[in-house]
Formats: sequence, structure tokens, C-alpha cells
Amino acid sequence: MALWPSLLSKTFSVLVFGFVVLHCFAVDKFGSHAQVVTPLLPPDEVQILQNISNKLNITNWATINRTSCDSAQWKQTSIDRKTQSMVTCNCKFENGSVCHVTNIRVKRFNLNGVLPEELGDLPHLLEIDLTRNYISGTIPPRLAQLPKLQILSLIVNRLTGPIPPEIGNITTLEELVLEDNLLGGPLPPDLGNLTSLRRLLLSANNFTGTIPDTFGNLKNLNDFRIDGSELSGKIPDFIGNWTNITTLDLQGTSMEGPIPSTVSLRISDLKGSSPTFPDLKHMTKMEILILRNCSMTGSIPEYLGNMAYLNILVRSGCFQTILDMSYEMLLVMFYIITT
Ligand SMILES: *[C@@H]1O[C@H](CO)[C@@H](O)[C@H](O)[C@H]1NC(C)=O
Ligand SMILES: *[C@@H]1O[C@H](CO)[C@@H](O)[C@H](O)[C@H]1NC(C)=O
Ligand SMILES: *[C@@H]1O[C@H](CO)[C@@H](O)[C@H](O)[C@H]1NC(C)=O
Ligand SMILES: *[C@@H]1O[C@H](CO)[C@@H](O)[C@H](O)[C@H]1NC(C)=O
Ligand SMILES: *[C@@H]1O[C@H](CO)[C@@H](O)[C@H](O)[C@H]1NC(C)=O
Ligand SMILES: *[C@@H]1O[C@H](CO)[C@@H](O)[C@H](O)[C@H]1NC(C)=O
Ligand SMILES: *[C@@H]1O[C@H](CO)[C@@H](O)[C@H](O)[C@H]1NC(C)=O
Ligand SMILES: *[C@@H]1O[C@H](CO)[C@@H](O)[C@H](O)[C@H]1NC(C)=O
Ligand SMILES: *[C@@H]1O[C@H](CO)[C@@H](O)[C@H](O)[C@H]1NC(C)=O
Ligand SMILES: *[C@@H]1O[C@H](CO)[C@@H](O)[C@H](O)[C@H]1NC(C)=O
Repeated sequence: MALWPSLLSKTFSVLVFGFVVLHCFAVDKFGSHAQVVTPLLPPDEVQILQNISNKLNITNWATINRTSCDSAQWKQTSIDRKTQSMVTCNCKFENGSVCHVTNIRVKRFNLNGVLPEELGDLPHLLEIDLTRNYISGTIPPRLAQLPKLQILSLIVNRLTGPIPPEIGNITTLEELVLEDNLLGGPLPPDLGNLTSLRRLLLSANNFTGTIPDTFGNLKNLNDFRIDGSELSGKIPDFIGNWTNITTLDLQGTSMEGPIPSTVSLRISDLKGSSPTFPDLKHMTKMEILILRNCSMTGSIPEYLGNMAYLNILVRSGCFQTILDMSYEMLLVMFYIITT
């Protein structure tokens, strides 16, 4: 999330700088504005954007033409923090005469169309964020052509079908956020090629199978969530290799224990075993540990009390463990939620 504002401010400063330079040049050297070049979108990009707008049913983009990068509708429509529409361009191409769209953000605009494959025809895209709409259809494999895409966020929509394996081709991807859709099928092992990923959020879908072993390559992950899917199988050992993880959410899946050691976790509803408390010594960046409906035995280790950022949420089913603890540890470490 922190990435986006910095990209935005860079793009804006480029834009501002570009205009200042052009303005001075025109006035000082020629004494008129006649030489000012207005950067334009290429005609084929206008066509592609028009098709995207039609398919998503984006009513607030108005007429799209070659000067749209400069239009008020594109620059920012923000009703509140969560409801916004913004299209950003980079107009530095061809000595500042050509623009290309880099960011498309249309969040909570009640879009009711289908996810258009034409998004894959905008090779300068860095971000697609269509959070909280009613978009249906499937994830188009054509997105795999995007050579620079960093953020794909489609959270809370009505997308169906599997994640196409081709998405594993977008090695620049840092955030793949697909939570709360109607996606299904197995997770493609190809996603393990996305080694730049920091956030992989897949919760509240209908995925099947197991977490592929290739996900062990995703060593830059700091946020992985997959709760609410019917994923089965063991919790893979490799998640102990995700040393940058701060949130790991596996609640409500049907995966079986034991919990691997050296893992930061939000794991619960484990089937078929009664593991002792996992070894979390090395997970010093862990911020949240949720114990919900757990069947762990034994006492909670004292080193948790030394973790600077940690809050532990304890929910129903874990009371036996709580009762084993000293009153001081309860006070110092635990923020107890009972449901
Ligand atoms: C836009 O959509 C029309 C009609 O579906 C299609 O004929 C045309 O090829 C599309 N253009 C682009 C650039 O995708
Ligand atoms: C587009 O959205 C508007 C409301 O936002 C709706 O009235 C209209 O039927 C939609 N068009 C299509 C083709 O779905
Ligand atoms: C482009 O569209 C804008 C509205 O978004 C309009 O004001 C402008 O006149 C159009 N330019 C051309 C060349 O059609
Ligand atoms: C950009 O400007 C430089 C120097 O003015 C010129 O040599 C070059 O041909 C220009 N390139 C394009 C694509 O216009
Ligand atoms: C994968 O990415 C490369 C480089 O970005 C591109 O040339 C190729 O067409 C992409 N493959 C698919 C299946 O989209
Ligand atoms: C992912 O990497 C594997 C192994 O290098 C390769 O065989 C596969 O084609 C890659 N998948 C994609 C979608 O790029
Ligand atoms: C989830 O997947 C199961 C098995 O494939 C299927 O029976 C069920 O209808 C799916 N549910 C949804 C909401 O897609
Ligand atoms: C973890 O995060 C740090 C900075 O927060 C970064 O420098 C590092 O490359 C990341 N990846 C791994 C595998 O540690
Ligand atoms: C963890 O990473 C190390 C070093 O990269 C590797 O040797 C090991 O096989 C990985 N463990 C798992 C379970 O993937
Ligand atoms: C707790 O987990 C078990 C499976 O281990 C499940 O059957 C039960 O419904 C869960 N209870 C709650 C309250 O989530």
C-alpha cells in the first residue's frame, strides 16, 4: 500500500516538471505559446481504453480522447477515502509528446461490468486497482503480457474461475490481491515464480487442493492470507522460510497440523491433531497472533512477552491454555477477545 503514494507523487512531479519546462521554453525562446506540445495518448490506446470503459461500465470517465490524461475526470474523483476513481499517465515518452496510462484505480464505484482482457494491451500499466465493485467474469490470461505491472487488486468483486497460470509470468508483481471473490480451482504452481511478491491475499474464495510447494520461493512475502478456502493438506514447512512475514492468515481452512516451527501465524481450526505451541522464537516481526478454536496443549512460551510488536487475540476454544497462564503474563502480553 505504501508503494502507491510514492509512485503517484513521482508521476505528479514528472508532470509538473514537464509543464514548467515546456512553458519556459515556449515563452522565452519564441515569445509565444505556439510551440507548446500537448502530450497526447496514441489513438490505439484511446480505442483500448474506450473498450475497457465500455466493458467495465465506467460512467464517470466521460468521453475518452487523446487529451484525456489532462482531464479533470481522470485526475481524481474521490468521494471519500475508499471511493475513488483515478487514471494516471506518464507523459514523458517521445520527448514529452506522448502519454501512456500507468495506473487505473476505480474503487467502490459500483462497477457492474466484466473484467476486460484489453487491460493486457496497456503495456505501461503499473497498477490495476478495481477494489470493491461488482465486476464479474474471469481473470484474463492476457494480463500476463503486462511487463511492468506491480499491483493487481481485485478485492471484493464477483470474479469466477481459476487463477490463470499465466499470471505467474508477471514477475514484476508485488501485490496480488484477490480476496473475496468467487474464484476457485487449484492454485497454479506458476505463482511461485512471482518472487517480488510482498502481498498475496487469496482469502474468501473457493480454492481447492493444496498450497503448491513453489510458494516456498516467495521469500519477500510479508502478508499472506488464504483463510476461508477449502484448501486441504498439511501446512507446508516452507512457510518457515518466509522470514519477512508479518501477517499469515490461514484461519478456517481445512489444513492439517502440525504447525511448522519458526512461523508467524494466524492459524486455527486445525484438523486431526493437538499440537503443542509452535516455536515462534525467530518471528520477531510478528504483529498479530490469533488463536481461534485451537486445540493446542501445553503452556504458552514466555519469549512471546519480549516481542515488541505482538498482540495476541484469543478466541473461543483456547481457554484451557489461558487458564494455565500467570496473571502477569496475561496483563503484559494479551489482548483477549472472547466471542
Ligand atoms: C474495441 O472493441 C470493438 C468491438 O468489440 C472491437 O471491434 C475492436 O477491435 C476493439 N479495439 C481494441 C483496440 O481493442
Ligand atoms: C451501467 O451502469 C448503470 C448504473 O451504474 C446501469 O444503469 C446500466 O444498466 C449499466 N449498463 C450495462 C450495460 O450494464
Ligand atoms: C476531449 O474530451 C474532453 C472531455 O473529456 C473535451 O472537453 C475535449 O473537447 C475533447 N477533445 C477533443 C479534441 O475532442
Ligand atoms: C528527442 O529530442 C532529441 C534532442 O532534441 C532528438 O535528438 C530526438 O530525435 C528526439 N526524439 C524524438 C522521438 O522525438
Ligand atoms: C510473458 O512475459 C513476456 C515478457 O513480458 C512476454 O513477452 C510474453 O508474451 C508473456 N507470456 C504470456 C503468456 O503472456
Ligand atoms: C514458472 O517457472 C517455471 C520454472 O522456471 C517455468 O517452467 C514456467 O513456465 C514459469 N511459468 C510462467 C507462467 O512463467
Ligand atoms: C465451491 O467449490 C465446490 C467444489 O468445487 C462447489 O461445489 C461449490 O459450489 C463452490 N462454491 C462456490 C460459492 O463457488
Ligand atoms: C525483507 O525485507 C527487507 C526490508 O524490509 C528487505 O531488505 C529484504 O530484501 C526482504 N526480503 C528478504 C528475503 O529478507
Ligand atoms: C528454505 O530456504 C533454504 C535456503 O534458501 C532452502 O535450502 C530450503 O530448502 C528451504 N526450505 C523449504 C522447506 O522450502
Ligand atoms: C472448530 O474447528 C472444528 C474443526 O477442527 C470445526 O468442526 C468447528 O466447527 C470449529 N468451531 C468453530 C466455532 O469455528
